[in-house]
Amino acid sequence: MNAREAIKTSAYYAMGAATRLRALVDREPNFSGAFPTLELAQAALPTDASSGYDSDDMVEVGLGHMMGVLGWDYPVMFWLDRLIREQHRISLLDAGGHVGTKHHAFGPYLDLERVDWAIWDLPALLRAGKHAQDRGMVSKDIAFVETLRDAGKVDLLLASGLFQYIDISFKTLLDRMAERPRWVMLNKVATRHDTDIVTLQLIGKKRVPYQIRDRKKFEGELKAAGYVIRDSWTITGLSHRIGTHPWLGESESKGYFLERV
Ligand SMILES: C[S@@+](CC[C@H](N)C(=O)[O-])C[C@H]1O[C@@H](n2cnc3c(N)ncnc32)[C@H](O)[C@@H]1O
Repeated sequence: MNAREAIKTSAYYAMGAATRLRALVDREPNFSGAFPTLELAQAALPTDASSGYDSDDMVEVGLGHMMGVLGWDYPVMFWLDRLIREQHRISLLDAGGHVGTKHHAFGPYLDLERVDWAIWDLPALLRAGKHAQDRGMVSKDIAFVETLRDAGKVDLLLASGLFQYIDISFKTLLDRMAERPRWVMLNKVATRHDTDIVTLQLIGKKRVPYQIRDRKKFEGELKAAGYVIRDSWTITGLSHRIGTHPWLGESESKGYFLERV
């Protein structure tokens, strides 16, 4: 290589490095900011993002992904299958059930004919769910309910991917149900080994508050509400580090199967 070519090659290397560096710097972190409470995290959002999950443009985000069975769904399917086999028929309230994503995903594997499945979610998602049902895209057997109480007494409360986003405590959620269910299944609960923090997650084009809970305190709340943890699991693929606050460490995503004592 002559001097001229050597200079040209070095210039290309330098440009490549600069581009990679710019991509790193410009890239918006998936998780940004760290707030002690949900209210403070919400207050940090621009007004056009304040509706959070409750908007029509959130319906399509990640939909194809959630309609299928993902690795972390297997413990939920395992316990649900057991309950169906043991109880022959069960009623289930899927809180944060979106447009029926998990009903759709589990359908080919579980005998859902023996499950009375109700979904409670935010108004925009309930609208989208009913619309999808009218078009035959989700099962006509799902009941979409506007309040937790409207589901009536159920055997199992399923909250898959809800606890990062919901604005009420576990106890308040149970208090708003017609009756405390015998079983509860929580999946994808974001936890950490220290105090609660709330960060802002980029979902689609929008940021929404994402709660990472003090694990010990949260498990204490489950027990204080009258439940024993019959099983729990860790979802390694869903631990996150907050881009702007890496020193706060990685979150640990947990699942729980609870039974009322
Ligand atoms: C990540 S999605 C999970 C969807 C589905 N359960 C699954 O596991 O694939 C979170 C769901 O929680 C719902 N959600 C968020 N905040 C909520 C709230 N305050 N009350 C009820 N549902 C809420 C969202 O609308 C969305 O459907």
